[in-house]
Amino acid sequence: MKYSWNVVRESLRLTPPAVGAFREATTEFTFRGFTIPKGWKIFWTVYSTHKNPDCFPEPERFDPSRFEGSGPAPFTFVPFGGGPKMCPGKEYARLELLVMMHNVVTRFKLEKTISDEKIVYYATPTPVHGLPLRLHPHQQ
Ligand code: HEM
Repeated sequence: MKYSWNVVRESLRLTPPAVGAFREATTEFTFRGFTIPKGWKIFWTVYSTHKNPDCFPEPERFDPSRFEGSGPAPFTFVPFGGGPKMCPGKEYARLELLVMMHNVVTRFKLEKTISDEKIVYYATPTPVHGLPLRLHPHQQ
């Protein structure tokens, strides 16, 4: 299900469920003129690369083909984090998403009843009106 996974990844790029996470500086360092002392907590954000046109050209455009071939550069697509603290539930989330998606899209055509519904972040992304949908069963 390579194409389906590319669709999921592009959705996770544009609307990541987790916006970032904390790290603790184990040593003092300087980044772009800012000195971060040892012991400080730093919050890394998913959006700083997901919406960066240097990493993802035309970042607001939904384009699953970005993930074809060798895909994005390492540590630019980070909805599950990266390095030793990377999300241990990633593969489970992938399985769950693909199974759900397969069962829904092979049975129904989905129609949003509010076409321009906004998504707000209450820690995680939430459609303002609860994403009301009409499900049209495919002809058997
Ligand atoms: C789409 C679904 C999910 C997303 C986007 C997600 C995202 C993340 C992110 C960004 C982190 C922080 C990684 C870092 O600090 O580098 C994280 C950590 C974690 N996730 Fe997930 N996650 C998802 C699903 C799950 C599931 C299904 C589980 C468990 C069944 C899970 C368990 C955890 C745990 C235990 C941590 C903490 C790991 C640590 O601090 O060592 N996650 N996740």
